[in-house]
Amino acid sequence: MCSILSNILQRYEKPEAVKIKNPERVEELIKNMAADGPGALQMITDFDMTLTRFHQDGEKCDTCHGILHSSSLMSEEFKKRSQDLFNKYYPIEIDHTMTVEEKIPYMLKWYEESHETLTTFPFEKKHLTEMVKTSRILFRDGAVEMLEALNEKQVPVMVFSAGVGDILEEVLRKFNSYHSNTKVVSNSMEFNDEGRLIGFKGPLIHMFNKNEKAIRQSQPKYFENLSHRGNVLLLGDSLGDVDMVEGVMEPGAVIKIGFLNTKIEERLESFMNSFDIVLIDDQSMDFINLILTHVL
Ligand code: TMP
Ligand code: MG
Repeated sequence: MCSILSNILQRYEKPEAVKIKNPERVEELIKNMAADGPGALQMITDFDMTLTRFHQDGEKCDTCHGILHSSSLMSEEFKKRSQDLFNKYYPIEIDHTMTVEEKIPYMLKWYEESHETLTTFPFEKKHLTEMVKTSRILFRDGAVEMLEALNEKQVPVMVFSAGVGDILEEVLRKFNSYHSNTKVVSNSMEFNDEGRLIGFKGPLIHMFNKNEKAIRQSQPKYFENLSHRGNVLLLGDSLGDVDMVEGVMEPGAVIKIGFLNTKIEERLESFMNSFDIVLIDDQSMDFINLILTHVL
């Protein structure tokens, strides 16, 4: 009997959009997470298309990189070059017929060419706030409330992103969601004394190396300090996101939730094999907030 899960599904608007390979296991995980309470919990979440919406009424929303690609502060030539790169490499990122190992060389090439393009054109730090303000980046419905509730109970949140840290931090600020419980692990822009972008600093985080090693380089001791929090809610929208949980010490109830935003039929099986819960084209955090009503 999956009583907690049934209760959540009854209160959830689109139960047909929830796919769970092993409901009994998920019931057990939620039960354990609820019994242990907020003191044993941490959240690890991807940013682009996980905290943020994939679309609004069918119109695509921005990502960290997308903000740069579409901003009126950037030249048309820059936009065209970035869009060409996206059109070339994004289909490879989500291709269900290729293995991660096969994809990685292409993804490295994408970052290399993307960063090179970005530093070829004038980009100034002072433009960041304006770009984010005028962008079409939107949090999923209920994301602000979710982050607020987690902060209230001092549940640590790691936002782990292969996007651009400077931009995502600005987005968190825009939505008043950059709380004291939040740590960001991402790629950092490097500016010269005049505030012009000259490159990126630190090791590159791409969509398929979001793992313990990358966290250690950015936030040494993060997981050691949270060793009493073995229960994890992991949120992602890419198969590479499941590795974000690798460094957690003494893992307990770990629930991996995947947002399947696009190429749904082709990718459903692989998502169901990797994530405990798959949410199909759900642009909200409702399901996660329902789980949290049992845990916080
Ligand atoms: P993440 O959501 O797993 O953190 O991955 C970041 C996303 O950013 C990934 O889907 C690829 C995308 N991206 C762009 O849209 N433009 C770019 O120039 C690069 C390098 C990545
Ligand atoms: Mg993502």
